[in-house]
Amino acid sequence: TQQPREEWTGQVGFIIAAIGSAVGLGNIWRFPGVAYENGGGAFLVPYLVALLTAGIPILFLDYAIGHRFRGSAPTAFRRIARWLEGLGWFQVMICFVIALYYTAVIAWAVSFFVFSFDLRWGDDPAAFFTGDYLRLADPGVSLEFVPAVLVPLVAVWVVTIVVLALGVAKGVQRANTVFLPLLVVAFAVLVVRSLFLEGAADGLNALFTPDWSALGDANVWIAAYSQIFFSLSIAFGIMVTYASYRRRRSNLTTPGLVVAFSNSSFEILAGIGVFATLGFLAHEQGVGVGELEGISGPILSFVTFPAIVSQMPGGPIFGALFFGSLAMAGFTSLLSILQVVSAGFQEKFGWTPRQASVRLGVVSAVISVLLFSTTTGLVALDTADQWANNIGIVGSAVLMSVLVLWVLRRGPELRYHLNAVSTFRLGPWWQVLVAVLAPLVLGYMLVSRIVTLVVDGYEGYPAWYLALVGWGAIAFMVLAALVLTAMRWRRSPDDFVPWP
Ligand code: PHE
Ligand code: NA
Repeated sequence: TQQPREEWTGQVGFIIAAIGSAVGLGNIWRFPGVAYENGGGAFLVPYLVALLTAGIPILFLDYAIGHRFRGSAPTAFRRIARWLEGLGWFQVMICFVIALYYTAVIAWAVSFFVFSFDLRWGDDPAAFFTGDYLRLADPGVSLEFVPAVLVPLVAVWVVTIVVLALGVAKGVQRANTVFLPLLVVAFAVLVVRSLFLEGAADGLNALFTPDWSALGDANVWIAAYSQIFFSLSIAFGIMVTYASYRRRRSNLTTPGLVVAFSNSSFEILAGIGVFATLGFLAHEQGVGVGELEGISGPILSFVTFPAIVSQMPGGPIFGALFFGSLAMAGFTSLLSILQVVSAGFQEKFGWTPRQASVRLGVVSAVISVLLFSTTTGLVALDTADQWANNIGIVGSAVLMSVLVLWVLRRGPELRYHLNAVSTFRLGPWWQVLVAVLAPLVLGYMLVSRIVTLVVDGYEGYPAWYLALVGWGAIAFMVLAALVLTAMRWRRSPDDFVPWP
């Protein structure tokens, strides 16, 4: 029995959802720190090169696969070649694992949004975050739950399950249409406010003063490629899935450029806001911006920002804007991650969006609560994130490029497809970028990261712990992908006709 595939209501709906996916925690807490540490203003050079040579080309590759083969990752890859279905499930499992902890960060942001109003963190935000709030214990396995995290985490899961159950147009697209504009407004207000803080100019100088010698450092280039990759949410099924909900005649390349440049603009905006604010902190403490600690990641958001909010006139409003933005940016990205999982199960097992959302949502929520609302939540999250991003996503990108473009030689077909439906056409150079340059750069990144993680470990966590949580997460993704691939299709993969 054929049934019509779900669709976005139009091009704008798709673009908004795709920007909602791209703009996430990476823009706010990752980009500013990465840029600062890798050459400041000079980092914009490798960053732009990475965007143009790998980010946008692979974004187009994802769109082409999703649209031409019109399915979530497992379906689309299976239609390219039967044996490739497993790669789709591997991408689904990466998304599944990431969703488990991404929700926890959103839950923290929701908590801190509330804490902003009475500056709940007191005089010592560092002790508050890891102590009073997370009740952090040493790396290990713990079943000691932290109610202050558990309650918002369950709430985030409930809202997510409801939105996904409503389907692509009524759920995912509508939620993005509400939250993305709200995010842009809230964040713009925050950035403008930050520019009027004392010390803002010093912060911006610290961020943008170019260190041209950084351009000679291979690690700076790797940092640029890995930032672009993470930031555009490419190569792990998300954009394949989102593009599969577009109509037959849909311009793909122009929206891709809109999404990519919007995401980068938001990154630079965040860099400005975060560093202007850090300039204020340095000014208050009478130190240089370079001497500050905790300028990226969870510590920037949940320790440094609270400290700043406490010292600032009108701090509670600033705090609410910041944590509200963090929660909204995270939520729209989360929806895109889980849509990949939901769509994969819908198509293979014949579930409706509502069945998929409730079944998968409840299972994920239970695992997420067990792992991330206990006293070891932060350590587990940090470890899972490192492996999922640097081994999982990068590995999936290399596999996709090598298998689809080298082994199966589908590059020309995908390029013709993009050009047949789009206004902005791609030349043969596109194939060179996605089939040659990308796998070389990414392959190098993957190998060097594996070596570093094996030789040096990570953050000084015990080796058994890294084996269990880091390598364990990857092993789980691979095993689950194999099992899911081996299972029988409950609905013929051709029920959703690719194109009539
Ligand atoms: N692209 C998002 C960001 O920059 C991150 C993200 C990760 C989105 C995983 C979806 C899935 O923050
Ligand atoms: Na991003």
